[in-house]
Amino acid sequence: MKGVRERGASGPAQATGSVGGRVGGAHTKEPGRAGSARAWGALVACLLLMLGGCARDRSAPGLYRSYCRRCHGAEGEGKPRALKLYPKSNLLISEMVLQGDREAVRDRIANGEGPMPAFKRRLTPEELESLVDFTIRLASEQKRKE
Ligand code: HEC
Repeated sequence: MKGVRERGASGPAQATGSVGGRVGGAHTKEPGRAGSARAWGALVACLLLMLGGCARDRSAPGLYRSYCRRCHGAEGEGKPRALKLYPKSNLLISEMVLQGDREAVRDRIANGEGPMPAFKRRLTPEELESLVDFTIRLASEQKRKE
């Protein structure tokens, strides 16, 4: 049931069963409505992003997939060809990552270095922070697997 609804902004289509419902005007403010309004807001934002051609998942794993994976590999292990030239593109052996040096990692993501592009214009401060966490966690999770 996730086809595009063509009925316009009529809200969730389950008014029939709900207490109070929408009978008698749209001004009834039930506490439960805030949640669904937020959900609709998120859905609309999502649709707008898709229209804009940037259907990106802005969670940390989503950001990593969109921005980092092509150079650093799915797990941070780096890409074989790039590794020859840039051994440091293996994040799993990166000192700053292994030491959990948030400052250095944040700076690297924000400002880039050498072939690594700067990302500060493409990330909100919160997103940058969540990527710092994600990168550090990536390495510590890999270590635990070994
Ligand atoms: C165009 C390829 C490319 C992309 C995209 C890229 N990186 Fe990098 N990154 C590199 C390379 C190459 C290096 C190693 C640079 C060097 O030799 O100093 C590096 C280095 C790093 C380092 C420092 C490792 C160290 O110990 O020196 C971190 C942390 C890092 N990248 C994280 C990220 C994150 C997070 C993203 C996504 C937001 C990202 N990179 C996107 C190519 C890339």
